[in-house]
This record gives sequence, structure tokens and C-alpha cells, in this order.
Amino acid sequence: MASQTLLLLPGDGIGTEIMVEVEKLIDWTNAEGLTDFSTDHGLVGGAAYDAHQVAVSEDDVEKARAADAVIFGAVGGPKWDNVPYEHRPEAALLRLRKELGVFANLRPAICYPALAEASSLKRELVEGLDILIVRELTGGVYFGEPKEITDLGDGQKRAIDTQVYETYEIDRIARVAFDLARTRSNKVHSADKKNVMKSGVLWDEVVRGVAKDYPDVAFEHILADNAAMQLVRNPKQFDVMVTDNLFGDILSDAAAMLTGSLGMLPSASLGAPDPATGKRKAFYEPVHGSAPDIAGKGIANPIAMIASFAMALRYSFNMIELADRVDAAIADVLADGLRTGDIAQDNRKTVGTEEMGAAILAKLKA
Ligand code: NAD
Ligand code: IPM
Ligand code: MN
Repeated sequence: MASQTLLLLPGDGIGTEIMVEVEKLIDWTNAEGLTDFSTDHGLVGGAAYDAHQVAVSEDDVEKARAADAVIFGAVGGPKWDNVPYEHRPEAALLRLRKELGVFANLRPAICYPALAEASSLKRELVEGLDILIVRELTGGVYFGEPKEITDLGDGQKRAIDTQVYETYEIDRIARVAFDLARTRSNKVHSADKKNVMKSGVLWDEVVRGVAKDYPDVAFEHILADNAAMQLVRNPKQFDVMVTDNLFGDILSDAAAMLTGSLGMLPSASLGAPDPATGKRKAFYEPVHGSAPDIAGKGIANPIAMIASFAMALRYSFNMIELADRVDAAIADVLADGLRTGDIAQDNRKTVGTEEMGAAILAKLKA
């Protein structure tokens, strides 16, 4: 097997703590001959700013382009609150997503059976939950121009962000959602605010057009605010939900709590297949951030990070069996009752990041 390259970008806060657990996993799969990954490391976010006064160096952007997959921890933290806006830690993430063209962000929210009690919702609402938010990741208000604050004088300022979508951007993300729905329960909800936003009107028009190419997939439109409410009212009505960059960001954090914790939600961000090689650029990261409130304590839940690595095995390397094994190891450890603090129930004893990572690895070895 030709060696495959992973670029590991731990970032800041708990990003560095949870990445260590993935590295142990990679060492083991390599040692077992299950994978032949060569890994390289880079700095992003505050860590890159401290070293190079930028959120990500040109060198590391190049490494990300060249890698078969990028594995990203998290960036940000109060230490960098006052750095220039263009160098804030989060700028690294946005630049990498845009430069790699990873427009399709898959955010699966699965409630593991053992965690039905850890959700803030009633067991019957979340038990068996398996939904997939397909978030558009390289467009919308995150990147639209103008984006600026202007001084109007007299102590007044005007801030502008611009929501922009073009047909092709909506069309390609909708196709990703419908294709994935065919591998699941054949149902797509598209969430927008077409009642208020022109970009929502176009979003709906294009998604409805794509839906016609998938007559076997049930399609429903939903306004994004109602989608937020329905996610906590009756989340199991959803299978795949496709939405724009900003709504996808917010709805996926809400969906995380259905699974027990934000520390449970992985993600995969995929680009378009290269016409020559069929390969997609890909970026894997937990949905959560650098969690400054618990950083440095060794108590972060590494499951979102480890499950993101499993998504890399699945989507970038077609190692379906190994990905299934990693996911099963996570389920087993939870079924055994092991809990980090964020998913603890019944005042039971909790374990730290390292112990949780080690337990998942031990299940894989068993
Ligand atoms: P956050 O996701 O970092 O944390 C929100 C809450 O969830 C906190 O209470 C945190 O302790 C908890 N949490 C998150 N992940 C956890 C885990 N793995 N285990 C246990 N608990 C966990 O969001 P925030 O506090 O709003 O943002 C903190 C910083 O992270 C900000 O600078 C923000 O911009 C950044 N951020 C980065 C990313 C990313 O790098 N992908 C994503 C979201 C936020
Ligand atoms: C996420 C994060 C990022 C986003 C931030 C850190 C730029 O919240 O990945 O969900 O808003 O996309
Ligand atoms: Mn977010």
C-alpha cells in the first residue's frame, strides 16, 4: 500500500489534548499494518499566531493542500481576543476550508444507546437518533463581500456582512445531501429563511430543482427557525438536513446536545472530486471548539475527535471496516459505562481525556 499522508493540525486549547489520542490510534493502526499513514504536523490558530504572527502559515496551507487528508483539532481562546481580526485563530479554519474547497460539511448526530440519558432531552426523543446535517461550508455570510465596519462619525459605526450564494454552490451541496440520503433513510429537509432572505429564495429554488432528480428521496422544505425548534421537539423526524453555512453552524451545535454533548459530534468536510484522479480534498474536525473553560485540565471528551478520524478512514481512504471498528469501539466503551464529565449521568465516576482515549484503543485491540 502506498503511504498516505495525514496533516495533523491540533490548534489550541483542548485541540491539542484530543489530537494526542488520535495520534495513539494512528500509531496503532500503522503498527498493525491496517494503515500506512505518514503524518506531518502544523500550527494553526493561536498557536500559529504565537509562533509566526499569522493564524496559519503559507507553509502549512501548502502542506494541507498536499495532504491526502487534514485532521484538525480546534482553534481559539481568550488569549487571542485582541489580535488583529485577520489573524484571529478562527481565520485559520476559514482560510483552510476555502483554500481546500471543502464545501460539503457532514455533521452526523448519533445518539449512542448508552447515552440516551446524557442528553438534555427525554430518552424517548433521542434514543436511536441518527441524523446528518449537511452544511454548506465555503460560501454564504462567512465569506461574502463586503464584510466591514465603517465609521459614520458622531460615534456611529455600520457593520456589514454579506450573504451570497450562487446557483452552483447550492446545487452541489444539495446533490451531496440527496446522494447521502439514498444511503440512509431517503429523506431530505432543506432549511433556509426564504421568507426573509433573497439567498433563501434562491436556495429553495435550486434545492427543489435538484430534488426532481431524486424522485425516490422524500423532500421537505423547512424554515430554519422552525428547524431549530423541531430539532428539540421531535428530532427523529429528520434524516438528512441540508442548509447554508451559518444555519448549519447553529443547527449542528443544537443537534449536538441531542447526542449528549458537543464533545460527541465529529465532522467531515469534503471537496469536489478531482476530474483526473477522482480524489477529494478532505478536512476532518470535531464540531466543538477549543473549550477554554476546560482546556489544560485533561478532561475533554476525545470522542468527537476520534470519530472524526473514523470519518477520515471512511470518506478519504475507503477503509469502511476499520472505520466501523473505531465507531464500534466508541459504542462499546460507552456501553461499559465510561464517561468523560460532559456526558456523565447519575453522578457516576468520570474519566479524563487520556483514559477515554486509552479505553477506545483497548477495545480496538481486543
Ligand atoms: P466550544 O465548543 O469550545 O465550547 C462550548 C462548551 O462545550 C464549553 O462549555 C466546553 O467546555 C464544552 N465542550 C466543547 N467540546 C468539548 C469536549 N470535547 N469535551 C467536553 N466539553 C466540551 O465553544 P465556545 O466556548 O463558544 O468557543 C471557544 C473557542 O473555540 C472560540 O474561540 C471559538 O471561536 C472557537 N471554536 C473553534 C471551533 C473550531 O476550531 N472548529 C469550533 C467552535 C468554536
Ligand atoms: C464550527 C465553528 C467555526 C464556524 C468557527 C470557529 C469559525 O463554530 O466549525 O462550527 O463557525 O464554522
Ligand atoms: Mn460552530
